[in-house]
Amino acid sequence: MKPIRIVLTKGRLEKDALTLFDRMGLDTSALRDKGRRLILPVGDMEAVLAKAPDVITYVEHGVCDLGIVGKDTVAEAAGSAKGFYEVLDLGFGKCKFALAGRADNDFFAGHQVRTVATKYPAVTRAWFARKGLDVRIIKIEGSVELAPLLGLADGIVDLVETGSTLRENGLIVIEDVMPVSARVIVNMACMKLRKQELERLIAEMEKAL
Ligand code: PRP
Repeated sequence: MKPIRIVLTKGRLEKDALTLFDRMGLDTSALRDKGRRLILPVGDMEAVLAKAPDVITYVEHGVCDLGIVGKDTVAEAAGSAKGFYEVLDLGFGKCKFALAGRADNDFFAGHQVRTVATKYPAVTRAWFARKGLDVRIIKIEGSVELAPLLGLADGIVDLVETGSTLRENGLIVIEDVMPVSARVIVNMACMKLRKQELERLIAEMEKAL
């Protein structure tokens, strides 16, 4: 039988995922000493390291059975990706989506269409649609805080963790959009084919939290 393959988000969520595996009693030595390798053993599983949106892609296509990824990425993919279940909230990697803008500018004042910059256009579109507000969305790849500072946008929808990036750039939270934390996602077909193994693994993860 092939080992279960789990894809992990590189970067911010990586350390907490390793702590979780340690608490589950899995051998994480290869992952801790990975060098530039991208596929490594963890316990009797195979761990793959990928960027957040690619975690969704690999799980959706079933080349990885399951993955650990932020709710931000899951929510952004919600409209287009459908081949996976979100099965567990891991509780780490906590932050939130918020609408933010310049402290000296009232985002909701006036009647003109607002421009919002974000790395997460789907989340932003859905949230403003629920509010019944028509906005123009501009996709930015990183350091979205620049957009209102440079005069490109009236506001941003972005992740806020400690709030220091906003603070240090003279921006404030205008409204919270959605809480975010790390989630476990499982490919739908794999969940059927390897139900017992995957259910046991998810239960072990939950116990170790
Ligand atoms: C994220 C996010 C904010 C910042 C929030 O960016 O987009 O810029 O972290 O964290 P804080 O509230 O603790 O300051 P990240 O560092 O991941 O880089 P990016 O802007 O290139 O996406």
